[in-house]
This record gives sequence, structure tokens and C-alpha cells, in this order.
Amino acid sequence: MRAKIIGTGSRLPDKVVTNDALSALVDTSDEWIQSRTGICERHLVSSEQENTLSMAVQAGQSALKDAGIAPEQLDLILVATVSSDFLTPSTACMVQKELEACNAAAFDINAACSGFLFALNTVDAYFQAGIYQTALIIGVETLSKLIDWSDRSTCVLFGDGAGAVVAKASEEGMIACLQGSDGSGGDILVCKSRTNNNPYAHTVKDLDYLFMNGQEVFKFAVKKEPECIQSLLQQAGMKPSDVDYYLLHQANYRIIASIARKLKLPLEKFPSNVSHCGNTSAASIPILLDEVNKKEMLKKGDTILLSGFGAGLTWGAALLKW
Ligand code: ACO
Repeated sequence: MRAKIIGTGSRLPDKVVTNDALSALVDTSDEWIQSRTGICERHLVSSEQENTLSMAVQAGQSALKDAGIAPEQLDLILVATVSSDFLTPSTACMVQKELEACNAAAFDINAACSGFLFALNTVDAYFQAGIYQTALIIGVETLSKLIDWSDRSTCVLFGDGAGAVVAKASEEGMIACLQGSDGSGGDILVCKSRTNNNPYAHTVKDLDYLFMNGQEVFKFAVKKEPECIQSLLQQAGMKPSDVDYYLLHQANYRIIASIARKLKLPLEKFPSNVSHCGNTSAASIPILLDEVNKKEMLKKGDTILLSGFGAGLTWGAALLKW
């Protein structure tokens, strides 16, 4: 049995922050941000009531409703995030409590922007092993709390949000998936943990906020993501043109356009929401999937390929029948 997605949901914070609004905060411009990234605006958390957990729960509820599945039917909840509200309990356990999904095992996965794909692939492996049958997978981030809002090279790139899918063990669905990591390249995208209060430890000044070497991340993404897609297609015995839609991690429209060029495919096959969401890390692929699903762009039997890259370094992809 493989993972078949039977419902999608998402939640974006109500507050929309435009590029012009950011140019009042740091020395930047709408022209610079749009031409370098394709981003026009992003949704950001703007109250204490809105956080990683609240967005995860709302996205999860909406995916369950779309799938017609009751919370108690879930036997697994995975949450992909690098921005949990708590170190422990996990966001997944807190979601389980809020949804009253009393029969589900729950844990978080940290693979940065590839996190949703790692979670989906983990669910598929559990289904193949016959361990679980019905899972809720959520990608959620509140990156706004990890960003240095005086650093123009990062603060313009990211947004907050959550996306979710319900997956069921089925004869059809997942065709092939892969994931990979290269820890030796990890220092190009880093967010250290907060101050160490241990009085016996030698204290070093920690980097509290997200640091990114943008050009190195760009080079990594435009090399690794097409390689990852090609090897997944090869594994499935398919050609790039056999895929109806490519739903890629929404970090930067130039990266998406470069991948489309490398695969010699029209951009119409690459739906994108980076212009209004920015980069929502682990949430970006499920938010996009929900958008495309709600617009009724996907027909039963369509072949879709999800792929992304992120800190770690990590990368992953999944090829599915809709
Ligand atoms: N507004 C105006 N100028 C800026 C801004 C800004 N927001 N940010 C940087 N600049 C300036 C720099 O200071 C630099 O000025 P200088 O030439 O005087 O030194 C100039 O613009 C060029 O900076 P670069 O970093 O070379 O700009 P580049 O064209 O590489 O674009 C960008 C930067 C958009 C970050 C690009 O490198 C990129 O998209 N990288 C990939 C980022 C990414 O995908 N991150 C996510 C990865 S994984 C995950 O999702 C967590």
C-alpha cells in the first residue's frame, strides 16, 4: 500500500505585508525584491493568538474536512517545522490534543524547507510496511520569529503559514519518492538555538537569527533540485513531459524558472504562489497543493511531482497519481 492524498487544507495569517511596507523597515524596494525573487507580498503572524500551533490546527482541520475523515480515524500525525512554539511537547502532539485525534501517534520532523516531503515519504514508508493507514501531514512555519528584521537580505524573503494533507494507504497514489541530505553544506543556511543559560557551560555568543548565504543557497538549489527530479523520474521510468504539474518549494521564482528551463518544460506546468506567500519553508508545498486543489486544477489520474530543497542541507521529491 502507498500514500494517496485524499484531502488538502491550509491557513495563511490575515495580515498581508507588501514589499512597499518592508521598504519602510529596511533599505529595499519593491523593484529589487520582485526582480530578484518574484515575491510581491507575504502573510505574517500579527497577534499572540496566532502561532505555529494555531495555524497547524486550522490547516489540519481544513484538510480533514476536505478528506471527509474524522480526527479519531487518524493513526498518525506528522508535523514538519523548524519553528515550533515549544521545544517539547512537539507541535504534532499539541495538534493531536487540539483535534482530539486520540488514536494517532504524533511527532515532528525537522528537515527545513524539505520537511513536508520528508514527512510525506515517511508516511509512505509506514504505509508500505503496513503499520499505519490514515495520516495527517502538516507543514507549518512562523519564520517571522526567527528572522532578523534589520537584515534586508533575509527579511524580505519569508512568510508564515501552514498547509496540510490527509493521506490514506491505497493501491494507487505514490509512484516513487526520494530524499537526501548533505550535512557538510549546512553552514550556508543556519539558525542557532537560543542562549545557553547553563552556568557551567562556556558561553559563546550565539547567532540568534536566521543566517543565509543567499548566493550559495541559490547555486545549490538550481543544481540539486533538477538532479533530484531527474533521478526520481528515472526511478519511475517516466519523462519530464509525462508529469502534469510540478509543485516545487516556493523560495524564489527565478529558481522555479531555472528548473523549468533545465527540464525543457513550459512554465504553465509549474504553478506558483511565491508572489503572494513568499517562502514559507516546510509549509510552502502543501499550501501550494491546497491552492491548486481548491482551484480544481487537478483531475483524477493526473501525475504530479512535488520537490524541494532546504537547510541541512536537504532535498526531496515525490511523484504521485492524483
Ligand atoms: N534590497 C535591496 N538590496 C539588497 C537586498 C534587499 N532586500 N538584499 C540584498 N541586497 C543587496 C546586497 O547588499 C548586495 O549589495 P552590494 O552589491 O552593494 O553588496 C546586492 O543587493 C546583491 O546581493 P546578492 O546577495 O548578490 O543578491 P542576489 O542577486 O544573489 O539575490 C537572493 C539575493 C534573492 C537572496 C538570492 O541569492 C536567492 O534567491 N538565493 C536563494 C535564497 C533561497 O532560496 N533561500 C531559501 C532557501 S531554503 C529555505 O527555503 C529556508
